[in-house]
Amino acid sequence: MKLLVINGPNLNLLGLREPAIYGSQNYESLLALIRTACDAEGIEVGFVQSNHEGTIVDAIQAAYGVYDGIVINPAAYTHTSIAILDALKAVAIPAVEVHISDVDSREPFRQVSYAGMACVKTYKGLGFQGYVEAVKFLKDYLSK
Ligand code: DQA
Repeated sequence: MKLLVINGPNLNLLGLREPAIYGSQNYESLLALIRTACDAEGIEVGFVQSNHEGTIVDAIQAAYGVYDGIVINPAAYTHTSIAILDALKAVAIPAVEVHISDVDSREPFRQVSYAGMACVKTYKGLGFQGYVEAVKFLKDYLSK
């Protein structure tokens, strides 16, 4: 089983950006946590982080035929990008949406998720653990 983990804009600045919301651990620590979870489940994992919407669309398109599942935190593009929604629908790879913060208890503009409309599950407000839950969920979902 192969999973692709996609992180959108500003998630490369984890640790620096708004630590009260996103925590003090950096992006590399996030990758290490996900890698450990995937190793434990016998899953191969690839990572993409981009600050550019089109690069994220390209990564989703390139995942077709290569990856069995996608874990995606589109970050701010969650709330704006119909292109990312359409790409997820186009490849139809089972995808799980993750948000580190609880987007529902923040500003109203964070309460809409376009990408989420193409995802089989969403985890929000669990911090980095949300990615681990997404990996476990997809392992189970794809094994059925
Ligand atoms: C985020 C929530 C988004 O609203 C925000 O723009 C982000 C990160 C999260 O992980 O909580 O950049 O996706």
